[in-house]
Amino acid sequence: MSVLIFDSGVGGLSVLREARAVLIGQQFIYVGDDAGFPYGDWQEAPLLARIMSLFDVLMNHYNPDAVIVACNTASTLILPALRERYTTPFIGIVPAIKPAAERSASGLFSVLATPATVKRQSTKDLIEEFATDCSVNLVGATRLARLAEEYMLGRAIDSAILKDEIAPCFVESAQGKTDIITLGCTHYPFLVNEMRKLAPWPVDWLDPAEAVARRALHQLQQSNATPKASDHTSDIAVMSSGQQEKARKRVLDSFGLVGRDKAITEKLMLINR
Ligand code: DGL
Repeated sequence: MSVLIFDSGVGGLSVLREARAVLIGQQFIYVGDDAGFPYGDWQEAPLLARIMSLFDVLMNHYNPDAVIVACNTASTLILPALRERYTTPFIGIVPAIKPAAERSASGLFSVLATPATVKRQSTKDLIEEFATDCSVNLVGATRLARLAEEYMLGRAIDSAILKDEIAPCFVESAQGKTDIITLGCTHYPFLVNEMRKLAPWPVDWLDPAEAVARRALHQLQQSNATPKASDHTSDIAVMSSGQQEKARKRVLDSFGLVGRDKAITEKLMLINR
């Protein structure tokens, strides 16, 4: 059986990490749309059109047993359209607003995400449904996904910028202090240790990746579909830019994504941004 994991870059590897622990024996196909990165800067309509075009190619070629859209910015926009077009189970990731509302002792928590995710109606709907008792602070970080991508590729990052990006998450009022920050972008878990060091006070950092992996397992168990045959034996990575940068290769290899797929990469490269 195969599971396709999709993100705008290498951030979805934080979900692959959890999926590996839960979805034993699956073949993983990791797709990073690095030619479209960062998604947080895109307008909704062109981003939706781009991702649908990428999936035309990917679904046609891989026909996976399940797809995890390991990107909040994409999930909060594209899941209804994908589910309408394909019968394959699509599992998305959204900011962990419900668990944060359940766990926050002060009732003050922050959602740290891309500017696009914090603006989405689906994020507002989650707050409306699960967190009306809390004071929810939405923080759209303009530079954090890029910083995380640089960090993962082994490049030095400026901690002053990182500190500035997380500063608006920390709120103090008569009610108390922010006690939870929910990581609403799959790139951010890779920076969590750095963010912890720069935080003005200790908070819980919530990452929904494990819950997403468990949901994917549940969906695969529910769907009685016969596992599809796959041409590949190793886990593979496909990056839409086709760039062969050493640092990126090192990251993908270190996540056990040793296979590449040149033919599909070339097709994805034809989809202009
Ligand atoms: N990893 C992505 C997310 O979860 C988005 C980063 C970006 O492309 O801006 O939202």
